[in-house]
Amino acid sequence: MKTRREFLRVAAVGAAASATQHLWAEQTGRTAAVPDVSGANSLQAHADAHGLLVGCAVVPEKLTGEPEYAGLVSAQSNILVPENAMKWKALRPAPDKFNFSGADTIVAFASAHGRKVRGHNLCWHVAIPDWFAATVTKDNARQILTEHIRTVAGRYAGKLHSWDVVNEAIDPKSGLPNGMRKSPWLELVGPDYVDLAFRTAREADPAPLLTYNDYAIETDAPDETEKREAVLALVRGMKKRGVPIDAVGVQSHLKTQNPAPGKGLRDFVRELRQMGLRVFVTELDVDEKKLEGSESERDAAIARIYRDYVTMMVAEPNVDAVLTWGITDRYTWLNGPKWARPDGKPQRCLPFYADYEPAPAFFALRDAVDTRLAGR
Ligand code: G3I
Repeated sequence: MKTRREFLRVAAVGAAASATQHLWAEQTGRTAAVPDVSGANSLQAHADAHGLLVGCAVVPEKLTGEPEYAGLVSAQSNILVPENAMKWKALRPAPDKFNFSGADTIVAFASAHGRKVRGHNLCWHVAIPDWFAATVTKDNARQILTEHIRTVAGRYAGKLHSWDVVNEAIDPKSGLPNGMRKSPWLELVGPDYVDLAFRTAREADPAPLLTYNDYAIETDAPDETEKREAVLALVRGMKKRGVPIDAVGVQSHLKTQNPAPGKGLRDFVRELRQMGLRVFVTELDVDEKKLEGSESERDAAIARIYRDYVTMMVAEPNVDAVLTWGITDRYTWLNGPKWARPDGKPQRCLPFYADYEPAPAFFALRDAVDTRLAGR
């Protein structure tokens, strides 16, 4: 039960932050002074006040090579996730070799700054090393998968908040039973590869929250609804078989042209809660490839999506982490060739602009975090 004082505090914080955001959003060309988002005004400070985890995907070379990037990450986040550094492709230069340098850098940075780390990921059909196809067979796939998980999860034992154990195993478009994705793991290990990965991860490190992570499960569009159902069935089956799973990651790569996420996702989160599972928003960003208008109009539309989405998600008590996929538009996968805007302008998809100044999305995200108490 909230006290009157808590109510007033939340309302005051919300009103002040909102006023700043509106002012900032109205400014074209960003000629006015940049609002101070350090210390008590940081996203991290607001999240800490509500017991929420907030953070972003990071790149080790930038943490060590760019003080401004490292400063921003540590000022705004209480949890980090490697964007690529813990994937097979980064860790496994050869079948008999591991290279932990990037992953170690991130874990050391987090530890030095008292931040948590999510591991991403132990088993995925993408970012597989070039040697994989010629080396992994039906005869050795189980052993290679379990050995990888034991080695990697074992190295970071006791140091991680959570692991994305299996990433993106569901894809109804593959046309296979139970909505399983056609992937090398399914083909070489068999349909129990998901269970195997989770059981092995738990044995290697009992500490982290073991997470199944997937995308395109946010909106009520028919294909996303179908995918969400298949994810739910997968997780339900795992629970029934006693497979150790603690959380589901909703990647949350939102697109401006898609319908706003709503009832379907809310029901999904609630159903997972009934199963005793947590939900993390693991890779939030807003693809604005198709958005037209001036920069300030685009920024306002993007900010609205951040605000509405995060407000909806943090109102659910089992959602306790929100991570964006990167922190600055300077480094985002959405500026890669496949996602580039037709007008050639860079995407404005993350809370900080390419020059590290806060975008309206930052204030929207911070306001949304502040609704946490009000929503519970
Ligand atoms: O590091 C090499 C570099 O040496 C080389 O010169 C360059 C040439 O293409 O490639 C670089 O590697 C790229 C890597 O990102 C680092 O920038 C890979 O080609 C590229 O495929 C890789 O893309 C990543 C992608 O996952 C595949 O692993 C993206 O950065 C990363 O944002 C993206 O993240 C995924 C999540 O893991 C899962 N959910 C979806 C999300 C977005 O696709």
